Amino acid sequence: MADIILGIESSCDDTSAAVISDGCLLSNVIASQDVHKSYGGVVPELASRAHELNIVPVVSEALSRAGVKPEDLTAIAFTRGPGLLGSLLVGTSFAKAMGVALGIPIVMVNHLQGHILANFVRQPGVTPREPSFPYLCLLVSGGNSQIVRVDDPLHFEILGQTIDDAVGEAFDKCSKMMGLGYPGGPVIDKLAAKGDPNRFKFAKPQIPGLDYSFSGIKTSLLYFVRDEMAKDPEFMEKNKEDICASFQKTLIDILMDKLVKAAKQTGIKEITIGGGVSANSGLRRRVEEEGRKRGWNTYLPEFKFTTDNAAMIAIAGYHHYLAGETTSLDVAPVSRMADF
Ligand code: KG4
Repeated sequence: MADIILGIESSCDDTSAAVISDGCLLSNVIASQDVHKSYGGVVPELASRAHELNIVPVVSEALSRAGVKPEDLTAIAFTRGPGLLGSLLVGTSFAKAMGVALGIPIVMVNHLQGHILANFVRQPGVTPREPSFPYLCLLVSGGNSQIVRVDDPLHFEILGQTIDDAVGEAFDKCSKMMGLGYPGGPVIDKLAAKGDPNRFKFAKPQIPGLDYSFSGIKTSLLYFVRDEMAKDPEFMEKNKEDICASFQKTLIDILMDKLVKAAKQTGIKEITIGGGVSANSGLRRRVEEEGRKRGWNTYLPEFKFTTDNAAMIAIAGYHHYLAGETTSLDVAPVSRMADF
C-alpha cells in the first residue's frame, strides 16, 4: 500500500496543505494572506488569525484535489519551526487534532529542511532531476540566508549563515524605503531587469568565513538615496530601474562569493538553491553561469516550490516517516532554529 502523507505549512503568511503518495505530489494548495500588504510587512497577530480561517478549507481542498479521503492518510507532516509562533501553533495544533482523530502518526518538520529538499518533490509526468548527496544548498528567504551542506535527506549542516538580516529582509526593507511596496523581492527583481546593474556601487560587507551580513547594505542604500535626493528630489523616480539593478547585483555578488568559497572548501559541485529569494531571476541566472564556469551541476527549484509551500514539508515528513521518526503529541512549535 502507498504511503500517503498530508503536509501542513503555516510558519509565516502562507497557509498551505499538500498530499504526496510514495513521494509523488498529488496536490499542493496555498492560501496567501493579502492582509499584510497595507502594513508593508507580515503582522504576526493577523497572520495567525488568517491561518485559523484558512486551515480547514485549505486542507479540505488539498485532499479533494488529490482524490484522497482522510482515512486513506498514512501520516501528517507539519512545520514545527522556525517561524512565527502564533502561525506555527495553528498548523501544529491542527496536525495533532487530525492525527488523533484519524489514529495516525504526526511528523514534525524543520521548515528549512523543507526548503532544502524542495528539489525532491516528484510530480506526475515530470522527469525528476535531483541532486546527489552530498550537495550544497544556498537557502535564501525572508527569514534565512544560509549555506547548508546536505549529506542525506535527514542530515544537514549549516556551513554559514547571516549574522543579522536575511537577504529577503534586505529586499523587503529597501523596497519599502524606496516606496516600491511589499514584498520587495519580486518588485525589485522586475525593475532590475530593465536597469543597469553596474551604474551604482554599494558597499559589500567584510565578514569572515562563510557567514553573511545584510544590514550594512541597507544603510548604504539609505544614505545614497538620501544624499542624491537632497541634490535632485526626482532622483529616485528617474533612476529606480538602475538603483534596483545595482542593488540586486550587489546582493547576488555577496551571496555568490560565499557560495563559491563553500564549494571550493568542501569540494562539492552539486549545488541547489531554495527559499523565497531563489525565485529571483538574477540569482537564478548567476547560479547557472557560475555552474557552467566551475563545472557544477546546478538544480533550481520550480517557482511554485521556492516560496513557502506544504509540498516540501510533506516530502521532508515522508523521509522522516520512512526512517521511523514520528513525533509525540506533546510537541510544541519553536520560533527559532536554535531551539530545534
Ligand atoms: O521563503 P519565503 O516565502 O518566506 C520565508 O521568509 O520563509 O520568502 C519570502 C521572501 C521575501 O523576502 C520576498 O521578498 C522574497 O522571498 N522574494 C524574492 C523574490 N520573490 C520572493 N526576492 C527576490 N526576488 C524575487 N523574485
